[in-house]
Amino acid sequence: MSIIIDQKEKLFTIHTAQSTYQMTVGKFGHLIHLYYGKKTEGDMRYLLTYGDRGFSGNPYEAERDRTYSLDALPQEYPCYGTGDYRNVALHVKNPDGTYSCDLRYQSARVVEGKYSLPGLPAVHTEAGAETLEVVLADRQSGLEVTLLYGVLADSDVITRAARIRNTGSETPYLEKAASCCLDFLYGAYDLIHFHGRHGMERQFERSSLLHADQVLQSRRGVSSHQQNPFFILADHRTGEESGECYGFSLLYSGGFKAEAAVDQYQQTRAVMGLSDEFFSWPLQQGEIFHTPEAVVCYSARGFSELSFQYHQLIRYHVCRGEWQTKRRPILINSWEAAYFDFDGEKIVEIARQASELGVEMLVLDDGWFGKRDDDFAGLGDWAANEKKLGCTLGEIGTRINALGLKFGLWIEPEMVSEDSDLYRKHPDWAFVIPGRKPVRGRYQLVLDFSRKEVVDCIFEQVAAAIEQANVEYIKMDMNRHLSDIYSHTAVFQNQGVILHKYVLGVYDFLERLLQKFPKLLIEGCAGGGGRFDAGMLYYTPQIWCSDNSDAVERIRIQYGTSFGYPIATVGSHVSAVPNHQTGRSTNIVTRGVVAMAGSFGYELDLKLITPEEKAIVRQQIQDYKKYFDLIQNGRYWRLTSPFEDEDYAAWEFTAQDGSEVLLNVVTLAAHFNGPSLYVRLRGLEEDAVYRMEETGAEYPGSALMYAGVPIPKMTDDYQAWQVHFVRK
Ligand code: GLA
Repeated sequence: MSIIIDQKEKLFTIHTAQSTYQMTVGKFGHLIHLYYGKKTEGDMRYLLTYGDRGFSGNPYEAERDRTYSLDALPQEYPCYGTGDYRNVALHVKNPDGTYSCDLRYQSARVVEGKYSLPGLPAVHTEAGAETLEVVLADRQSGLEVTLLYGVLADSDVITRAARIRNTGSETPYLEKAASCCLDFLYGAYDLIHFHGRHGMERQFERSSLLHADQVLQSRRGVSSHQQNPFFILADHRTGEESGECYGFSLLYSGGFKAEAAVDQYQQTRAVMGLSDEFFSWPLQQGEIFHTPEAVVCYSARGFSELSFQYHQLIRYHVCRGEWQTKRRPILINSWEAAYFDFDGEKIVEIARQASELGVEMLVLDDGWFGKRDDDFAGLGDWAANEKKLGCTLGEIGTRINALGLKFGLWIEPEMVSEDSDLYRKHPDWAFVIPGRKPVRGRYQLVLDFSRKEVVDCIFEQVAAAIEQANVEYIKMDMNRHLSDIYSHTAVFQNQGVILHKYVLGVYDFLERLLQKFPKLLIEGCAGGGGRFDAGMLYYTPQIWCSDNSDAVERIRIQYGTSFGYPIATVGSHVSAVPNHQTGRSTNIVTRGVVAMAGSFGYELDLKLITPEEKAIVRQQIQDYKKYFDLIQNGRYWRLTSPFEDEDYAAWEFTAQDGSEVLLNVVTLAAHFNGPSLYVRLRGLEEDAVYRMEETGAEYPGSALMYAGVPIPKMTDDYQAWQVHFVRK
């Protein structure tokens, strides 16, 4: 890793282990992007070509030279109003009502260490890191933009953000402030993105980029089930193991916008940042606005390598704190076991059953507080419903701890029920537009977390519950999207700040929880995986991946999730059959194998399973503990695609040093008199010999990788085969 500034030539080069990123200053002071790709020592200015481009304007200084146009040149942080008609990174409304900003280069320097972003999640490191700061300014308005590029000694990515400061005397409005822009001079790319819906998040979709804007976005106030703030641009020929691709991940949990388009000259531009819809940020004299952080990554070796880079980065440089790498307790969650129908005795009984099988933590889900017997009431009142429980929350915590289990609790802090004491006292704390009836979602309204007094009140209530019952885990849920955006504190012109301030309020809430309870494990959740983004993972090292706990559908959901996020962050549980969401029945072995590709737990009434199934659960818990290091710290490989391969799904974990391998296969379709199926392994040492623990058979690594192994004949759909190979 290194950053090289050639002040004379105005050439700025970033090298990571495998890639090079380069930019320069154009003859009129614009910051021109030159190259991002496989490592090179070259001065890449020779790549720029100039031509007389009709209908692509020229800066005034170009005088009679019609060959210099920002509509055709690659740039680092293009602005609206400079004659560049493509998607821009920055859009400014000036105090006089004009839309224009013209950023020119001021200075560049390398700073030791990785920058951080106040109030926002950001990549962090204890090991070596450097930051390239490139300062640009608009002379007319005094707007100064510092582009931040972070590189880490042990990571093959580049982080990007912008620090925007008003050095002028008036107040411009930021109408769009993206985190990054990446221009490609040529090439034909596919766009791979992860769309979905509640219960079916992060579905893989690949299509050719068009000569038109392709926009991935959420205008829902959260990153959303519907689109994920992670996408890939890949060469048409790129696959798991070979080919070039670029990843883009936004560390932000609110509405976002990612744009990709091929322009009129076959150049591709990708822009990513927070959503510019409902965004209009007044920047007072001297004030600074920090964009959220984006992380870009280049892989010359296919998706497998790209995912590996993001997995390592998120695990070691986004997640943090007590639970960053430690094995998380195997939990039982009360939701699909009891829903709203429980009292304290029933919860303790669920914990007791689970403790006999080796479970380590009970999570009391929705329904323990306020008047919460169904989803019509109670949100906002975070004191235990002692009448329903038949005891205090502290007593439940004590009894669960006495069984040898930790105690965890569900909360949904951003929400309020109209039938709650909080709403009756503070109706203006919810987002409601004056004079209009609000949109309800799951019968609830959203609290205005852009207001500090609202966050304070909820934080104090939640902190009291944690202290009262020795709560060691919190599941932080969020079960509707934002609408009716109106803050009763902001004057009308400032409504454009609320959505971002709301996200900052959520981050503030989480940061305060972690500061006050540094050992607390927080699992993120938003109706399952509706806020599964790298920003959230800075606070919550695991996220409930989906409300769909059906093992077969989970294979697709977890496959899509794995492109941008590591296994350790994926909350995944064994639930009951017939599955409560799909009605499908799969055997408990299969459910266990699928749930083990994540932060493992159970979510069912263990009283209802057979003695044979109980024995399997006991074994699963032992297996998960045995394989924990391999699963969470090993390298994850997608061996098939559930979107293409119909017969079986397979994935694998290999130890980083190649010493052991856990192979997982689930058959998707059983056939009468069908062909034999084989699976090829990856990431082994070619010359080493591996012993399959279950059978004692030995195979050269090269044979397992290049010829594969036959999958045992299975006589039903959705059978699982999990085998462990150990290097001799
Ligand atoms: C959301 C979560 C579920 C459960 C319910 C409780 O849907 O994703 O896991 O906690 O809320 O209401």
